[in-house]
Amino acid sequence: MFHPKLFENRNVIVTGAGRGIGLEVARQFLDCGARVLVHTGRNRDRALPDFLLTAESERRALLLPANFLQPGGAAAFAEQALEFFDKVHVLVNNAGTMHGRFPAGELTDADYETIVQLNQTSVVELTRALLPALRAAQGAAIVNTVSISALTGGSPGSAIYSASKAFVATYSKALARELAPDGIRVNCVSPGTIDTDFHARYSSRDKLEQTRKSIPLQRLGTSEDCAPAYLFLAAPSLSGYITGQVLEINGGQLIC
Ligand SMILES: NC(=O)c1ccc[n+]([C@@H]2O[C@H](COP(=O)([O-])OP(=O)(O)OC[C@H]3O[C@@H](n4cnc5c(N)ncnc54)[C@H](OP(=O)(O)O)[C@@H]3O)[C@@H](O)[C@H]2O)c1
Repeated sequence: MFHPKLFENRNVIVTGAGRGIGLEVARQFLDCGARVLVHTGRNRDRALPDFLLTAESERRALLLPANFLQPGGAAAFAEQALEFFDKVHVLVNNAGTMHGRFPAGELTDADYETIVQLNQTSVVELTRALLPALRAAQGAAIVNTVSISALTGGSPGSAIYSASKAFVATYSKALARELAPDGIRVNCVSPGTIDTDFHARYSSRDKLEQTRKSIPLQRLGTSEDCAPAYLFLAAPSLSGYITGQVLEINGGQLIC
């Protein structure tokens, strides 16, 4: 548990925060005093937990849906975000998913474009649009969600997803160097196998159990295992000399 005032008077944007890892990241930023623009996912109709609705009613959280697959979706979201925040101290680009498992020979152009647009292009679009507000914050941090599969290649059918996460990891390293003169640090959190809706959709329980047995810490990860890494990388007082790095959260699943 971090200090309850760690992000006091700080404006934080977390995408993909209506469930899973992003939701827990948003919760922990709120618990540390931040004002959080919570991207709640694609639709308005997702049921949200009470703590978010309470934070919204107390004006500590702003809840905003947006579909980053729609043309201009990410740019429109950024435009709305800038109506709330003239400065952005922390941007967490977390929205993403595999979309499906596609054997290399069966992948359609539409599937390819969907995976790349969501996991890679929308990160570039949002970051670019929010850059003036990140610069204005003086000492801002960007934390991007990548994946263990960016290093391992992932499992069959996830080639484009895995490659899109590798793109974001490399993009983040390049930005870290480019934006350092603006005082903006850029790092990534790389989850291993985290038990969220993500795997409920794309992995069978048998596959997950096999994975669990292969993990040195002998369990799958949780959103709670991941969230503190985002806060650590976002806080200048904790990680002010860390930029261009990828923090792997995987119970020892990949040690290299
Ligand atoms: N779980 C894992 O093992 C694991 C491992 C490595 C990396 N990751 C990465 O971690 C991040 C969070 O994943 P998670 O496990 O928390 O999965 P999750 O529970 O499925 O959450 C994914 C989030 O992304 C949002 N999203 C999906 N499609 C979108 C779209 N078209 N436009 C805007 N937002 C969209 C979802 O919104 P909706 O509710 O509308 O779908 C949701 O908020 C993702 O980037 C994922 O690739 C996860």
